Amino acid sequence: MYPQEFYESLKRVEATRKARLNQVFPRLSMEERSALLEKFHPDYKKETMREISVGISKGEKTPHEFADLLEAYSYLDPKRFVIPAPKYEVDVLIIGGGGAGVAAALTASEVGADVLLVTKLRIGDANTTMAQGGIQAADKENDSPAIHYLDIMGGGGFKNIPELVRALVNDGPEVIRWLEELGVIFDKAEDGTMLSIHGGGTSRKRMHPCRDYTGAEIMRCLKDEFLDRKIKYIEYTASIELLKDNVGNCVGAVLVNMETGEVFTIKSKTTILATGGAGRLHIQGFPTSNHYGATGDGVVLAYRAGAKLIYLDTIQYHPTGVAFPEQILGQLITEKVRGLGAQLVNAYGEQFIYELETRDVVASAIIREVQERQKGVVTSTGGGVWLDTPLIEMKFGKGTIQKQLPAMYRQFIKFGIDMTQEPVLTYPTQHYQNGGILCNEFGETNVPNLYVAGEVSGGVHGRNRLMGNSLLDVLVFGRRAGRHAAEKSKEISKIGEPTLLHLIDYHSELKKLGIPESRRSPMILPDYRPQEFRGKFHFLSKLTEFNAERNNI
Ligand code: FUM
Repeated sequence: MYPQEFYESLKRVEATRKARLNQVFPRLSMEERSALLEKFHPDYKKETMREISVGISKGEKTPHEFADLLEAYSYLDPKRFVIPAPKYEVDVLIIGGGGAGVAAALTASEVGADVLLVTKLRIGDANTTMAQGGIQAADKENDSPAIHYLDIMGGGGFKNIPELVRALVNDGPEVIRWLEELGVIFDKAEDGTMLSIHGGGTSRKRMHPCRDYTGAEIMRCLKDEFLDRKIKYIEYTASIELLKDNVGNCVGAVLVNMETGEVFTIKSKTTILATGGAGRLHIQGFPTSNHYGATGDGVVLAYRAGAKLIYLDTIQYHPTGVAFPEQILGQLITEKVRGLGAQLVNAYGEQFIYELETRDVVASAIIREVQERQKGVVTSTGGGVWLDTPLIEMKFGKGTIQKQLPAMYRQFIKFGIDMTQEPVLTYPTQHYQNGGILCNEFGETNVPNLYVAGEVSGGVHGRNRLMGNSLLDVLVFGRRAGRHAAEKSKEISKIGEPTLLHLIDYHSELKKLGIPESRRSPMILPDYRPQEFRGKFHFLSKLTEFNAERNNI
């Protein structure tokens, strides 16, 4: 139910709806896009970023929230911490239980490696599960990986790493076939052909949806397969540091059991970080569409171990986060809603942007409409513009929303908002980390035997990812990293002695910069308690006790 004060605006939207039905807002020229981005995209606000002052990518820019985590001490004192004997020793250690981690586990086990997956929440507690609108892959007659490649490069501002994009688009059709074999139920026409739609910045309809819970459906099948194969895993266990031997190979990790506080180590021939993104950093105070564990831990661990970064100054703000009601602020309203014809209109019922421009452009246009033009609907949390959803039913018939967008329908009807009859209020939300750890097309980083896959990595999407390419990314690069890491592990006869030597220089750099020792990372979980109630999480207090014991303090 909307508050009374929204109704004047709602009436204006309704009054202009019929005339807008087939009206397409003109697309922007390249110059107009650039001007809009420079003025309104949050990444372009200079004061919100700083140069990283420690580590291998020193001098590169990143938002302050990320820099604070990189310019922070480990929970472990490398000079005093006595590394416990490994509790497990495996060929391939996978850190992260989302789409990339599970896909990696599947291919690594197929190669015959002894695999162990650890995750700080549960298998499937990940942004993969929350992905809604679809997965891209060029498998239609009028499409090709080459066309997909061009769309991705255009969306990413031509800053993408070509080898990574090539791998992504070429593996796409095979990934869709694989998912079908695993049991994923994609939307199909009566004759069995796969339905596909447009996303922002796509020149072909290549988005394959499972209604509007594509990620949940994919994760359901990945998890089933993973459990069926009896691959080893540990849940509720956070990785707090990577281990390296004295010649610089990654040889495993230090972990903390979040229920008992136990600290232990795993030794591994190869390690894959598939820890996902960083929405819970709430960069520039934005709400987020991300899951609770998206705190950028993998970037911190890899960086401290010497892995290079790329484009960690580009964050994706999904144009259509929920702006009302407050209880679900920042949750996703899938781009599929716009793909099906819902238009973006301001408080006066006027269109102001073509809704399927790339995400960075649409988000900037919404910010302009609300902040500069003051044509948004004012709410207690800021404001927003309307996503005119009743147009979908006018275009495709009654019942389309409940059929194609059941998750969206439920998301709003719970609050008395019927999106078949009334528009929904929207504003950008922090959605994705475009950059991350630099890697090659097999997920290898510059740290020997350390791999990355999925959102923790960077480069494939350039400076702006297109919809549906993250689900593809986690699967393509999860599978590639799993396979490669497993093959590589066969070449390693003996794992080197684990050390934390890499932390010694890192910590002394931090000390020289005067960074207070109270600043620790990774974050592991976001803390939403009011300031006065904040303290250490239970498992971190345990960790401190454990350190004191082992360090004989
Ligand atoms: O809008 C969406 O459904 C989001 C998809 C994505 O980020 O790929």
